[in-house]
Amino acid sequence: MVREIEAAVIERAGVPPVIETLLLDDPRPGEILVRMTASGVCHSDLHVRDGEWQRPGPIVMGHEGAGVIEAVGEGLDPGVIGRAVALSWYAPCLRCRECQRGRQWVCTGSPSFRHAQADGTTRLARRDGSPVLAYLSIGTMASAQVVPATAVVPMTDGVPPEVAALIGCGVSTGVGAVLKTADVPAGSTVAIIGLGGVGLSCVMGAVIAGARRIVVVDTNRAKLDLAGTLGATHSVQADPANPVATIEGIREAAGEGGPDFVFEAIGLPATIEQAIAVLPPGATAVLVGMTAFGQTVRFEGFPFVDGARRIIGSNYGSAVAALDFPRYAEWFLQGRLPVDRLIDRRLPLAELDDAFDRLRAGQAARQIVVFPGASAG
Ligand code: APR
Ligand code: ZN
Repeated sequence: MVREIEAAVIERAGVPPVIETLLLDDPRPGEILVRMTASGVCHSDLHVRDGEWQRPGPIVMGHEGAGVIEAVGEGLDPGVIGRAVALSWYAPCLRCRECQRGRQWVCTGSPSFRHAQADGTTRLARRDGSPVLAYLSIGTMASAQVVPATAVVPMTDGVPPEVAALIGCGVSTGVGAVLKTADVPAGSTVAIIGLGGVGLSCVMGAVIAGARRIVVVDTNRAKLDLAGTLGATHSVQADPANPVATIEGIREAAGEGGPDFVFEAIGLPATIEQAIAVLPPGATAVLVGMTAFGQTVRFEGFPFVDGARRIIGSNYGSAVAALDFPRYAEWFLQGRLPVDRLIDRRLPLAELDDAFDRLRAGQAARQIVVFPGASAG
């Protein structure tokens, strides 16, 4: 059965999204049909919207979503129909060497790279029959979507759709960068540069890790204040025109020469360079934010080696979605991961481009598209 859905489509990277009615086909073996309940507006979508990341098109946007299972492809257990789920934007193939090592965040066989199903085709089409892709195979800015079964993680009862959606990207990326990729020891001093949904999740992760000092850095005062309510102990208001002052501010707030770990959660060469420059000997910079394609960063070689400093890239917070999403959900229910406090706006799909404007201006914490009937899930 082919059904009509509403979706935010961009023709190609760099142009505004248009809300279109598309045709969605049934799930095939290894696929699941999900009615969407919530989809977060993440900076990675904005990279595509603004043409900083090239992607094929036309493509349905969105990769931070939650929904309810409506149908399953042949061979999957229909008993899961009606389950609330969160979606992983990096559907693991479960067959490549990295998946077998348990490192799904560097899976090399994921359908997500092609923005299609595992067989390379898409279940989405325009009325004229022309195919439409789904961003990272899940294209969550849509009222419903067919997704790879390995992208679907059942959600713990009692977790609201907006929270489940954020667990699908920003929370896993930020919390996991601290707890999994960097494995920050209790008592460490941590600095976090950039307080969007990802950086604020790093703050929550640092609290759970038992960090002694948590220094937060942003240009926006309101973001610094919000981070303070989540457990940040010191704040530095950054002036992009004066990076040296920012570096000195971080060192002073961290004490003891500087922080043990610095998390960069923006993806700008200038702030990545600050994260590296501020490291005292033995300390680690964890790069979480993703730059526009083709950008390079600079640092001086000698002190880096002489001081035994480290730089680590963190993709998706080293998430193994099937294991980590339920863990983060449980911490939310226990009040240890107050994900709901990151949400500063709920909007209908039609206002997506306005939400991108706010995100581009650095004004938003996390904005969430909610779909009609979401609470019924
Ligand atoms: N110095 C300090 N803070 C800055 C600066 C700067 N020069 N420029 C921007 N910021 C702050 C903004 O004020 C904002 O609070 O960085 C934050 C970025 O947040 P978002 O745009 O909401 O980004 P988010 O969705 O959290 O994603 C961050 O992680 O997954 C990647 O692709 C994603 O690269 C992006 C990054
Ligand atoms: Zn994201």
